[in-house]
Amino acid sequence: MALPNEYVAYHDYFIDTLNFFDKYQFLYNYSNVDILVNGVLERIPKEWLKLYAASSPIDRRRPISAIEEICDEYDKLLPTINSDSEKMHSEVTQEELKYEPIKCLGLKKYHEICNLSNVIGKVCKDNNTNFVIDLGCGLGYLSQMLFEKYGLQVLGIEGDKTRVIAAINRQNKFHKTSQGNVSYVQHFITIESAEKIIEFVHEFFPHCQNFYLIGLHACADLTIDAIKLFLNLERCKGLVIMPCCYHKMKMKENGVEEFLNIPLSDSLRLAYEKCHAVGFMRRPFLRLCCQRVTWTEIEQNTDSRAFHLLSRAVLQLFAHKEGAKLVKKKRRAVSKSESKKCNFESFLRNAISGYALQRLAGASGDFRCSEDENFNNDNAKSESGTAEAETTTTKDEGKIKHITDWENSTVDIVTLWNELGPNEFSAASLLIELQDSLQALGENLVLSDKLAYLHEQREKSKIQFDFKFLKVTDENISPRCYALLANKIE
Ligand SMILES: C[S@@+](CC[C@H](N)C(=O)[O-])C[C@H]1O[C@@H](n2cnc3c(N)ncnc32)[C@H](O)[C@@H]1O
Repeated sequence: MALPNEYVAYHDYFIDTLNFFDKYQFLYNYSNVDILVNGVLERIPKEWLKLYAASSPIDRRRPISAIEEICDEYDKLLPTINSDSEKMHSEVTQEELKYEPIKCLGLKKYHEICNLSNVIGKVCKDNNTNFVIDLGCGLGYLSQMLFEKYGLQVLGIEGDKTRVIAAINRQNKFHKTSQGNVSYVQHFITIESAEKIIEFVHEFFPHCQNFYLIGLHACADLTIDAIKLFLNLERCKGLVIMPCCYHKMKMKENGVEEFLNIPLSDSLRLAYEKCHAVGFMRRPFLRLCCQRVTWTEIEQNTDSRAFHLLSRAVLQLFAHKEGAKLVKKKRRAVSKSESKKCNFESFLRNAISGYALQRLAGASGDFRCSEDENFNNDNAKSESGTAEAETTTTKDEGKIKHITDWENSTVDIVTLWNELGPNEFSAASLLIELQDSLQALGENLVLSDKLAYLHEQREKSKIQFDFKFLKVTDENISPRCYALLANKIE
């Protein structure tokens, strides 16, 4: 994970990559639920669809290979990982799979915890550190494994109180011997947290001097805050962190859809301004960047993914035509197994019980108002983040909320579905495959921004440190596989 060979300066790489994303923004710049509302499928060039139809399944292993026009540009921008120094992951051993406290976890999570703990264990050993601070520790899976496998002392800091309680309960149940060596505390980390962290260290591990900051799936701004804390905290000697959920990062409060921490580096900031990237480095772009799917999923599921994409988009189109919004009644409005069946009538029955249709006052349509307005914002939060449209109506829009009963609308919705033909299905499959490919490049851009930032900070500061991204998981098991490693040099 670095610049491709032909680039020396981050700025040049950022300009070319942003120009690429600018050119193909029609492929990702809308929420996927809105593709029919915004006519995204019609914007896919007919020539691409012909090439796609003629490509063999083998070609599709690399999704865009059929479309040479973008393939050539893409290849120049995406670096290949060819050095073992950039990879460090291993198979989960049989012994590890029997490890009682996390036996219940899926293979993916297991693989991540085992591999990241191996990297952290090695880095700490090489740098004579036996104390780490696990940022966003969740239920403490990684923290406990670090103690058990490598004898590290761990302070887990977690913003969510219920998770802190759950982590302590798990420790009492499975890891009694770690008490005193692994502690959990609630605190929401921000860039202002330096003093608080030192206070926690004094309180829980008074004999410990230096530490590493670590984190698995340090989501949203947490990774950026960790990078800044690494730079600001003298006692922090290193950082090993895996970022995620870029699209959940904080927005600026300037009325424009801009993120506080992206761009992070001056190099990307300059390129961003030059390429007017504010128009496309938006939530859908950042969501795309962190949504890598495995090759197995790509190969097995394109048809059912196209069905899922189109069926949800048809609901959205219907709601749009009625001047309404869809509001989830439960976390997963339509079950995964339902989507896989690829049967629209059955999907629709499920969707009608999973979503409510919320019509804005003044919009046309003949809906009965339901009594049940008991859907709160949490229920309305999208399970797929920005891939779904904003589904709540807020008071400040000056509109009154109506929850409408839409069971009697199925005929109209099925009519919309039946208007879709093979061309739409083919275009939806191609769109999915193209988005899959753009993902890796988008993620490289976001990760390179962090490298460029660290590079710039090193130039400006007196502290010497090295840093790199390391591939710590097998992408076929856990596709978001990079950890940022930084290490201060004494
Ligand atoms: C994706 S989960 C990962 C949990 C854990 N590291 C793991 O991999 O099992 C991210 C966790 O970070 C916590 N978190 C996110 N931002 C945080 C912040 N700024 N300060 C503290 N905790 C945070 C969330 O509450 C959540 O538990």
